[in-house]
Amino acid sequence: MTETTNFRTMDESTNADWQRVAASVGGDSGGLADLVLGMLTRLKGSSLCMPVDPYEHCLQTATRAFKDGAEEEMVVCALLHDIGDLPAPQNHAEFAAAILRPYVSDEAHGVVLLHEIFQGYHYFAKVGLDRNLRDRFRGHPSFARAAEFCANWDQNSFDKNYESMPLAAFEPMLRRVFARPPYETNTTPRVDFMGFRINMAPGNLAPGGTA
Ligand SMILES: [Fe+2]
Repeated sequence: MTETTNFRTMDESTNADWQRVAASVGGDSGGLADLVLGMLTRLKGSSLCMPVDPYEHCLQTATRAFKDGAEEEMVVCALLHDIGDLPAPQNHAEFAAAILRPYVSDEAHGVVLLHEIFQGYHYFAKVGLDRNLRDRFRGHPSFARAAEFCANWDQNSFDKNYESMPLAAFEPMLRRVFARPPYETNTTPRVDFMGFRINMAPGNLAPGGTA
């Protein structure tokens, strides 16, 4: 194992320290895929009182996307769109979108980010909300795909009798997506140094204020 650096504060760290840290981060390219697969598997058996558990729901959603010929990154987004159901129930879409953002297109990231509101088109009216709340995002580049995602793959994936593809069928796709060089497939503003990439537009923050 590489010797650790010895700074007590970032203020006293050196360029050589960061070169070593950067090199060690670059050597863990497979770790994220393993972590995400573990998070997905953790959803098994947690029913949330839904007809199928979130694990099966994710497999169903991804299977429908795959069978409809969706791009590989979109299939992976379908597989992971609800991995935040347990750890981030109040902002599960943001949670999944944040993990996927460096590795997918702007459009796919937008679909995952918006799906929490867009799926409401299919049930908000039943709980006294306006099903068209998604309309405040008219003009967003992912609007049409997010609407399709929810209509064709997400809202209809609670079927106990549907035969989903197994996780093993999706694992190579997931590993290929997370092996992409970060931020090469989208326009996220970033600063590069020593192989690190820092996202300069985290969340909905834009330089100088909120977007
Ligand atoms: Fe879902």
